[in-house]
Amino acid sequence: MKVLITGGAGYIGSTVATACIEAGMQVVILDDLSTGLRAFCEGRDLYEGDIAEPEILTRLLSDHPDIDAVVHCAARIVVAESVTDPLGYYDTNVGRTIVLLQRLRDAGISRIVFSSSAAVYAGESGQGADENSPLAPSSPYATTKAMVEQILKDAATNDDFRAIALRYFNPIGADPQMRTGLQNPLPSHALGKIMRARATGEPFSITGTDWPTRDGSGLRDYIHVWDLALAHVAAVQRFDDVSTPDEPYQVINIGTGEGVTVRELVAAFERVTGEPLPTIDTDRRPGDQAGAFAIVDRAADVLDWRAERSVDDGVRDAITWAAKLPSVR
Ligand SMILES: NC(=O)c1ccc[n+]([C@@H]2O[C@H](COP(=O)([O-])OP(=O)(O)OC[C@H]3O[C@@H](n4cnc5c(N)ncnc54)[C@H](O)[C@@H]3O)[C@@H](O)[C@H]2O)c1
Repeated sequence: MKVLITGGAGYIGSTVATACIEAGMQVVILDDLSTGLRAFCEGRDLYEGDIAEPEILTRLLSDHPDIDAVVHCAARIVVAESVTDPLGYYDTNVGRTIVLLQRLRDAGISRIVFSSSAAVYAGESGQGADENSPLAPSSPYATTKAMVEQILKDAATNDDFRAIALRYFNPIGADPQMRTGLQNPLPSHALGKIMRARATGEPFSITGTDWPTRDGSGLRDYIHVWDLALAHVAAVQRFDDVSTPDEPYQVINIGTGEGVTVRELVAAFERVTGEPLPTIDTDRRPGDQAGAFAIVDRAADVLDWRAERSVDDGVRDAITWAAKLPSVR
């Protein structure tokens, strides 16, 4: 099988590429390296350019007329930036995706696995979300994900594509063999802030301690990026069983099924490092939500996939990767 991975030089796409290669697939990567790293594509067939650039698409598709499926990871992904540059986000994530999809359709490539996000769900109230939970994306970034889902759903009905949208929850960790990981050593999510606190010696702020969760701190569903990558392998391998002519558009949550509160994440960090991490309780920040975890029955049913790695595994791999990153960049 040959798989085109857009955004295959990024955190998730590069890890998906490794997992696909280990599963015996051939991989082609399309990435403009805007945030991705060339080092993540070493020895891989990289086409460097924008997902909507006509010349590069022509070259790629004529070099590889035998692409069986596309994993579409390329996107701009920073929520705060999407608020200050909504047009840029709609342009890249939606507009250029449409151009890419048209070119794929014209080339007769119709199996699409799309990187969607749990950010499309409404009302993160500390509870589980299944694929039928109400949607209400709360940022331009999240709206771009919901819009592409809608586009794929409509195009699938029209026979142009069959598509599987994977709604990722909160990816953490790195390739367990440390070949790839986050390009940013101190990301803005809770684990990144915990790692920053440890590096600076400042206490870590637990922002909001009165959420409707078991200990009052916010809750997320931390999915190890290698488990996430294996979900893509399953989606590609089982594509024709999952996305059928009768039901050509499918949405699948990809998470662990377990919520982990911020206090529990701190405890995991302390277990992994063997050191206490000073924390302070602070007020909620504007725009924060209690969070949600994935209800993952569908992924188990249709992909025969379940997350296997623990939050401790994710924390350990994130720490190991952050130490290695300066030598990779
Ligand atoms: N990281 C998360 O927490 C998370 C959660 C849910 C969903 N996702 C989705 O997963 C996908 C991958 O995210 P990531 O965390 O690996 O981000 P990333 O920034 O590491 O990867 C995105 C990749 O796409 C490339 N890219 C961006 N715009 C491009 C363009 N116009 N043309 C060609 N390449 C382009 C970048 O260079 C980068 O390599 C995204 O679609 C994102 O929305 C991520």
